[in-house]
Amino acid sequence: MYNVRNVAEDIWWLGASDRRLELFENAYPVPEGMSYNNYLIMDEKTCLMDGIDDAVTRQFMENLEQVLKGRSLDYMVVQHMEPDHCSAIPELLLKYPDMKIVASQKAIQMIDQFYHLKVDGIVVKEKDTLCLGKHTLNFIGAPMVHWPEVIMTVDSCTGAFFSADAFGSFGALGGNLFADEVDWEKDVLDEARRYYVNIVGKYGNMVTAVLNKTAAFDIKMLLPLHGYIWRQDLGNILDLYKKWATFTPERNSVAIFYGSVYGNTANAADVLAGKLAERGIRNVKVLDVSKTHVSVLLSEAFRYSTLVFASATYNGEIFDNMYNFLVDIKNHNLAGRTVGIIENGTWAPVSGRKIAEIVSGLKNMTILEPTVSITSSLNEVSMDQLETLAAALGEALH
Ligand code: FEO
Repeated sequence: MYNVRNVAEDIWWLGASDRRLELFENAYPVPEGMSYNNYLIMDEKTCLMDGIDDAVTRQFMENLEQVLKGRSLDYMVVQHMEPDHCSAIPELLLKYPDMKIVASQKAIQMIDQFYHLKVDGIVVKEKDTLCLGKHTLNFIGAPMVHWPEVIMTVDSCTGAFFSADAFGSFGALGGNLFADEVDWEKDVLDEARRYYVNIVGKYGNMVTAVLNKTAAFDIKMLLPLHGYIWRQDLGNILDLYKKWATFTPERNSVAIFYGSVYGNTANAADVLAGKLAERGIRNVKVLDVSKTHVSVLLSEAFRYSTLVFASATYNGEIFDNMYNFLVDIKNHNLAGRTVGIIENGTWAPVSGRKIAEIVSGLKNMTILEPTVSITSSLNEVSMDQLETLAAALGEALH
């Protein structure tokens, strides 16, 4: 049965959630499921804003029929061709053969790549408009937020900004569609950050460019393809996006990430955390890279100003899980952090040098002295180094 909601003048939400999904994109754990939004504008012309994921297509088709109430579908704006928003395109074209697809040239090409369909669509680009009657859609190019074909759309009648993947989050919706209907900071922010960082975190410059373009419009609502709709206090999420897009940390404190085989590197991480707390540093966080999903680690690396990497040496390399995490940091272009390093190795500790090599390849990173070098377990020499590193971290934070 249908589940539809009117969210603005003539604009309907037709979304659905998937709570069975284990891994979004077969990569990111979603313990609270995943939501997929799309929207229908009922004007002189009817216009669907994006499609939906295969897992919830049946619900979506029922929702669509319910709102159309026998009218035909005139347009489908395809803002993003990733299949979590597009898998119903073949079915929609069969059911509504007169429907015109409105999309970027690249998206039209991707429809053929994914579905082997050569559609006779309306190609739009930056500053093009489409009049539906009362509502006029204004298109904005948003390449790499999150794929190269992405467009976003502002309805100048309502100020609704259809923002594709931007402003989304992991997690299913529970009936409340609007961010102001839930305790967003407490219950959603961490998953919104993890979503941003992992999905579009790499493309900060592109996100900034889109945010700058939206300044030309009087935007009153943000309607993303995942997560909550924003109709109040838009500045809250926009300020967060400005921060994330410029790799600006939210928290001036230390996150210590450790990769430990027998617990001695973990012990050094905890000893350092205690020393930092004794120095009055609040919100120090310690994370085990072997027990914490890398998407969470990356999200915390974006959140914190100061990062410590503590790693055992393994096969003459950085401990595997730490290595994978550092590669993920590099792949997401994280920049502008202060870094401390702790290495451990029973006969040939080399992980510190190798961590420094990776971190040095990132933009605007400051590596503090000394690198704490442990041979098997902390002793007086390495405890002294740890004390000196704690002092350097404390100084960097003030
Ligand atoms: Fe929600 Fe990039 O797709």
